[in-house]
Amino acid sequence: MTQRVAILISGGGSNMLALLRSMTGAHPARPVLVAANDPAAGGLARAAQAGVPVAAVDHRTFRGDRAAFEAALLEHLDAARPDWLCLAGFMRILTPGFVARFAGRMLNIHPSLLPKYPGLHTHARALAAGDREAGCTVHEVTADLDAGPILGQARVPVLPGDTAATLAARVLPMEHRLYPAVLRRVCEGNRTPLFLD
Ligand code: GRF
Repeated sequence: MTQRVAILISGGGSNMLALLRSMTGAHPARPVLVAANDPAAGGLARAAQAGVPVAAVDHRTFRGDRAAFEAALLEHLDAARPDWLCLAGFMRILTPGFVARFAGRMLNIHPSLLPKYPGLHTHARALAAGDREAGCTVHEVTADLDAGPILGQARVPVLPGDTAATLAARVLPMEHRLYPAVLRRVCEGNRTPLFLD
C-alpha cells in the first residue's frame, strides 16, 4: 500500500523539492499535499509544477490564534489523509494538540547537530561557539521544540573564514541528501538513526 506524505513549508521549499524528487519508482511513499502558512511561499509553485496538490493557509489572518490556524490547516491535511507529515522549512510552532494528532509520524529537519542549537540562528551560534563541525538533523516532532528522537544526522566541517551564509550553503545540500534518505527508511519501518558524513 503506497504511503501518503504531506509536507509543510514556509518558504522556498528546497527540502520539500528534494523529498518530492525522491518519492518515485520503488519508493514506498508518494506526496499527497504540500501546504504553506504563507500564500507567497515559493515552494507552492514548485510543488504545483511537480503536479502535487497544494494549499496555503495564511497564519496572519488568524491574528495569533494558533488553534484556529491549525484547525484550518487540518481541514486540508485531513482531506489528504497523510500517513506521514514532513516539516520542511516550516517556521511556525505547532501546539501539543496538533503534534499529538501526528505522534510518531511527523518529521522535521533542523539545521544543526541536535541537541546542540535548537531554535533559530543555528549556524551563527555554531560559529560563535568555535565549533569545528556543523550539520543537520532529522528528528521526530514532539511537543518540545527541536527535541524529538533523532532519526538522522549529517555533518560538515566548519572552515576558516566561514560565515553563517557559507556554512548554511555547505549544510543545505546535506539536508537534501539526509531528509529523503531518512523518510524512505521510516516508510520502510526502519527508525535506526542514519548518519551521513
Ligand atoms: C533550511 O536550512 C532548513 O534546515 C530549515 O529551513 C531552511 C530552508 O529550508 N528548516 P527550505 O529551503 O525552505 O527547505
